[in-house]
Amino acid sequence: MSFSTLVSDLTYRDSTHSPRPSAPSHTASTNTARSHLSRAQSSYASTAATSVSISGSISSQLHGGYSHPLARQWQAERQLTKSMLIYPLFITDNPDECTPIPSLPGQKRLGINKLIPLLTPLIAKGLKSVILFGVPLAPTAKDALGTAADDPLGPVIAGLRLLRRAFPQLFLVADVCLCEYTSHGHCGILHDDGSLNNTLSVDRISDVALAYAEAGAHCVAPSDMNDGRIRAIKLKLIESGIAHRVVLMSYSAKFSGCLYGPFRDAAGSVPSFGDRRCYQLPPGGRGLARRAIRRDIEEGADIIMVKPASQYLDIISDAKDIGKDLPVAAYQVSGEYAMIHAAAKAGVFDLKTMAFESTEGILRAGASIVVSYFTPEFLEWLDT
Ligand code: PBG
Ligand code: ZN
Repeated sequence: MSFSTLVSDLTYRDSTHSPRPSAPSHTASTNTARSHLSRAQSSYASTAATSVSISGSISSQLHGGYSHPLARQWQAERQLTKSMLIYPLFITDNPDECTPIPSLPGQKRLGINKLIPLLTPLIAKGLKSVILFGVPLAPTAKDALGTAADDPLGPVIAGLRLLRRAFPQLFLVADVCLCEYTSHGHCGILHDDGSLNNTLSVDRISDVALAYAEAGAHCVAPSDMNDGRIRAIKLKLIESGIAHRVVLMSYSAKFSGCLYGPFRDAAGSVPSFGDRRCYQLPPGGRGLARRAIRRDIEEGADIIMVKPASQYLDIISDAKDIGKDLPVAAYQVSGEYAMIHAAAKAGVFDLKTMAFESTEGILRAGASIVVSYFTPEFLEWLDT
């Protein structure tokens, strides 16, 4: 007789003769005490949840495992910590600029002279990593080839050099794309018909990535979605003898959609015609995402990223499944941040609670790195 059969048998006898909700005791010496208890609990016994559960499987009892706050923390495979966070910075070519970005509450477009004052207190609170986006504002800064992307005096390269010197411990990620620097606002170089010229784009983007790595980026993160750029960047890093000290983080599964709206406002990278649906993934494209993740791993990515985050938890989980041996990053994008802010402002929910719930959901899905505009707030809210 199995244990559970024995338990249900005893429970059945208990409930018919001496109704007692729990103990499967069957020794004579406890019978007196049992029947005493039974009388006291007789009205409870017939409906007691424990009685019902015990007649089934012991594994039905879950509450005990998370009744204590620490036991609740132990349930998470990953705990949100400060070292998981990457904070996005928008750096302009006007050195003294410090302008709030209306679509991204709390975020600013910064000139190079404002970086150290902004970052000093954040680093003191435990900031470990930033990702740099260039926002060229000069009217001459944009052309069809995105020439300004690797301008040695441009905001990203100047920013990398400055931050490497000022904060040697800060991990610097450089977003690599052309859309902030092209006159048409697309993420690569175009054919005459307006479609992406993949060959020229990959050539150019891998040059830009190399320039950022040589300027001091610990990590280069191509977000353009051109085919084959991970391999091209890796090869150039190898040829230049710096592949051993540069992390290549691929925006592998980057889905098209409206959630990048506030970012494009902030970075001035709205396409002047068309959209990005021929190179960013279609929102239903789970299979394409899996193929892109597999491809980028084969091409030499060290980290794979999924973006946006909260809408694509299934893809984050796929990424962790396909890339068992790589860290998975998720980008909680501008639109996700702006939505949470707007709803909190309207009193729909509490900002801090929602920021935690959404970021913890992203970790649960499989990410261990989160790019988030909430980073300064998390540095306040978290202990470690
Ligand atoms: C540039 C880039 C974008 C984002 C990261 N890198 C914008 C885009 O692809 O349109 C989005 C970040 C955000 O929305 O917070 N290719
Ligand atoms: Zn782009």
